[in-house]
Amino acid sequence: MSPKHILFVDDEPDVFQELEQSLQPMRDEWRMRFAPSGSEALKILSREPFDAVVSDMLMPEMNGSQFLTEIKTRHSQVMRLALMGDSEPEAVLRLSCPAHQCLSKPLNPIQLRNTIKRTLALRDLLTNQKLRHMVSQVQSLPGLPSLYVELIGELQKEEPSITRVSEIISRDMGMTCKILHVVNSVFYSLSQKITDPSDAAMHLGLETLKSLVLTYQLFSQFPHQPIREFSLEALWQHCWNVGVFTKQIAAVEKMSYDTMDLCFTAALLHDIGKLILASHLPDEYREIMAQARQKRVAVWKVEQEILGATHAEVGAYLLSLWGLPHPIVEGVAFHHCPIRCTSQNAPFITIIHAADSFEHENRSSSPMTERFMMMDDTVRSETLDRIKDWQAACLWNEGSAWLEI
Ligand SMILES: [Fe+2]
Ligand SMILES: [Fe+2]
Repeated sequence: MSPKHILFVDDEPDVFQELEQSLQPMRDEWRMRFAPSGSEALKILSREPFDAVVSDMLMPEMNGSQFLTEIKTRHSQVMRLALMGDSEPEAVLRLSCPAHQCLSKPLNPIQLRNTIKRTLALRDLLTNQKLRHMVSQVQSLPGLPSLYVELIGELQKEEPSITRVSEIISRDMGMTCKILHVVNSVFYSLSQKITDPSDAAMHLGLETLKSLVLTYQLFSQFPHQPIREFSLEALWQHCWNVGVFTKQIAAVEKMSYDTMDLCFTAALLHDIGKLILASHLPDEYREIMAQARQKRVAVWKVEQEILGATHAEVGAYLLSLWGLPHPIVEGVAFHHCPIRCTSQNAPFITIIHAADSFEHENRSSSPMTERFMMMDDTVRSETLDRIKDWQAACLWNEGSAWLEI
């Protein structure tokens, strides 16, 4: 594998020395350069290509935010990481930071290594002639939704406040409506309708709420109908159903609550790459959907033929850039082919794949092409003894109420 080129930017020489030392083990895999200022780094970037930049935020002349904004405009394919302390000016910069991810100081070299390595590995899945052409047309990808970032901040506190969580949610009217709609449909048997986001948070649980907020905000960053053939509402419904099915199957498999939450979030986001492709490459995506309909094959197979990659890798790359937990990223990346996943996350990805397949197979009103998204043969034979239980859980459990949403 060719070495990756990483550029570090910091005005303090001590930080460089420490970094160089702690990243010594990466010498074989990374070619590292160090620049003492944003303007110096921009000069270096104009002469040679880099895969990622890691920048301090508080620097004289050009601060980290200004520097990373320049990178976003001039070198949009470079992964952008910001290094931040917890001083007040940095907290302010964090709110409008144009980085894909913010890492806290003092820098943890293992965290940095994993973050860069995993994200670039996913980007590498996208590199071939056709895909390079596609990526070159994607000028910029949206940032991690700000309300979600705030919500995570609150949830990471030692004692998160439900009142504060509901305040954050209430700031987005559309999101509040969606969450109240979801909670009232899920808990349809309650005698009184839930009308307050804090009651919704208590009923759904904070983890489910967090997944919903991320998915809703993510969906709302894209045009409502990027192309005529593509409905955002239908995609949301599909992702929600797959999320619910995934939870039901995970319960049958007696997975831990933590794993269930990861499964649910990954399932809600599994097809986010479709939105990116349809919004950024409308003409190609119209053609892909038409061909899938004509050939009666799954959309992702035509994506692979035409673009050299599928919405699974595209979505996973975006989520990885944003620093979502690796199991979620892998769940999205391998949801069509769980056997390609070699990590310990494979069992829960199999569940997402099964849930996705059931959802496509169950929907009588789905377009013809979608009904061809069937379960992978290897997965089917490996889970033969459990498939009936899984299907039953998806059809008749509490999920049937969730499905009315
Ligand atoms: Fe998919
Ligand atoms: Fe799907």
